[in-house]
Amino acid sequence: MNISLENQVAIVTGGSSGLGRAICLAYGAAGAHVVVNYRSDEKEGKEVAHLIEQAGGKAIAVQADVGEEADVDRLFATAINQFGAVDILVANSGVQKDAAFADMTLEQWQGVMQTNLTGQFLCARAAVKAFRLQGDRGVSRAIGKIICMSSVHQVIPWAGHVNYAASKGGVALLMSSLAQEVASEHIRVNAIAPGAIRTPINEAATQGDAAKKLLELIPYGRIGDPDDVAKAALFLASDLADYVVGTTLFVDGGMTLYPGFEDNG
Ligand code: NAI
Repeated sequence: MNISLENQVAIVTGGSSGLGRAICLAYGAAGAHVVVNYRSDEKEGKEVAHLIEQAGGKAIAVQADVGEEADVDRLFATAINQFGAVDILVANSGVQKDAAFADMTLEQWQGVMQTNLTGQFLCARAAVKAFRLQGDRGVSRAIGKIICMSSVHQVIPWAGHVNYAASKGGVALLMSSLAQEVASEHIRVNAIAPGAIRTPINEAATQGDAAKKLLELIPYGRIGDPDDVAKAALFLASDLADYVVGTTLFVDGGMTLYPGFEDNG
């Protein structure tokens, strides 16, 4: 089945690499006009936009730090200026700054919160304002869709990554509380919680011996590809998911089934 996002405008934060890149390409192929946000890797951001255009789609690359209010306002203003509207936000940007708890610096804590949680707040708020202002454009059953990139660590505790797990736990309730607040306006807010997907954020954990150890945590027996997540993002953005509101879709090969209990614990 082909999923169409024809005539819709999508902003994907952190679109220059990993999951964001795959989502940008999938949205472009589905006919969306794509705003590829990047923070510092301009070359990669522009390359993603170029690939979409080469395939016959429309895209622009826009620099913005999602943790900075003025940057987020500029990102949305640029999208609206260029494409006339915003219909879909994928709040995907995220970072890890790992440390044992007692060694974790305030900078490491705040750095992760700033991007992973405040960044999602700022982008989602800008999206809700844009959806309200433009109203029903007749391009989708909902007047706007927000997809928050969470993680299996919104439910699985993660020693050595307390800042990251806390940020994703925060994303879960940011997403569901916002979904509850705006559902009556036909704004759909959902999240994706990936498990282990091979991208730059977890390069060390997904290669060699580390990968073998990781596979013990994945009942389905493989590490995920960015496309596994892009397909979920395509579904959630489309009218196929029109009755899906306030849900987290786990894309994790069964990681949250706690495979350690498979043999009676
Ligand atoms: P990645 O490192 O390739 O992507 C993260 C992107 O966020 C990068 O493009 C980076 O430039 C961007 N970014 C970081 N700080 C930013 C800021 N302040 N403003 C704008 N952009 C910023 O890694 P990946 O895996 O693609 O991560 C994407 C999202 O998926 C993250 O939120 C991550 O937490 C989440 N995730 C990834 C999993 C995986 O196994 N790869 C598992 C669970 C969640």
